[in-house]
Amino acid sequence: MCQSRRFNLKNQIILLELRSHMSMVTAQHLHKVFGRFTAVKDATFSIEKGEIVGFLGPNGAGKTTTMKMLTGYLPPSAGTASIAGYDIIDHPLEARRHLGYMPENVPLYEEMRVYEYLEYRARLKGICGSSVRKQIGLAIERCGLEAKRKNLISTLSKGYRQRTGLADALLGNPDLLILDEPTNGLDPNQIRQIRELIRSLAEEHTVILSTHILSEVEMICNKVIIIDQGIIKASDTPSNLTRDLRAAGRVSIEFKGDPTEVIKELEAFEPVKKVIIEDPLPGGWNRILVRAEPGTDTREKAAAIIAAHGLPMRHIYRHIPNLENVFVEMTRRD
Ligand SMILES: Nc1ncnc2c1ncn2[C@@H]1O[C@H](COP(=O)(O)OP(=O)(O)O)[C@@H](O)[C@H]1O
Ligand SMILES: [Mg+2]
Repeated sequence: MCQSRRFNLKNQIILLELRSHMSMVTAQHLHKVFGRFTAVKDATFSIEKGEIVGFLGPNGAGKTTTMKMLTGYLPPSAGTASIAGYDIIDHPLEARRHLGYMPENVPLYEEMRVYEYLEYRARLKGICGSSVRKQIGLAIERCGLEAKRKNLISTLSKGYRQRTGLADALLGNPDLLILDEPTNGLDPNQIRQIRELIRSLAEEHTVILSTHILSEVEMICNKVIIIDQGIIKASDTPSNLTRDLRAAGRVSIEFKGDPTEVIKELEAFEPVKKVIIEDPLPGGWNRILVRAEPGTDTREKAAAIIAAHGLPMRHIYRHIPNLENVFVEMTRRD
């Protein structure tokens, strides 16, 4: 009996050790259909401990649906996922214990005070005894809610409501925070404050946040997952994503004079795919955009062609892509 218990304990320790080496989130072939509509198609990705992941996609892309599947609020139609090594279907309670979720529209109870609400939420999460006060105290402190703890939720600004939602997600000190559009509806100052708060939370937690604001992802995330029409289009670091696009080599040029011959010669140049004339500029200047094969730089050739025609040139520039370019490139409909 004693031996078998020791054996079980040993097994459990081995399991715990194994879990500690696992990814924080693995999603495999996650699929969700609503009637005849497929909201998420075959989503496979993983998130490692300590990452701050931006889950990026246009409205209706499937961000909320994917997050709800990860949190166990919505059963997948097919596929599976695990949180901290616990399968969300086979071990839903353990999986949920490792995550804190802030839904898109934080359902706060208007007539409750901040502290009361957090107390209610803590008990719902099965936190009991002296842990309740301790956990609430920590969450309030981390979210800068000390001055508002006795305020009625109905009197809070949107920024403080978001903080209350974040404090709720933090109760129980979960390894993983899943935040659905945490800065939605906030003004620029509040956005900055919530962004800083998320950045500080990320020191101790793995964070996934969904957004359609690119600059937000660029500022705080070290990994980006791009989803469009239910399909995961990319999962990488922001710098890797923009580096791949840099290879697409777009060059803008401004020169004066008749552009017809210049464009013809540029288009005959092997790596050039397309030359686009942009709106004419004042004073007889033209601006053209040269789109070329990945990995090429057409600046030297373009400058030589323009010089050979004796035309003045005042600007030549190779575009350095940002995340917005990656996003547009991946979600464009043409
Ligand atoms: N319960 C539902 N029933 C039917 N369609 C839904 C439901 N929930 C979401 N959808 C649809 O699934 C798609 C993805 O929605 P959602 O995951 O909320 O997108 P996002 O969060 O990226 O804006 C949308 O077209 C939405 O209308
Ligand atoms: Mg959403």
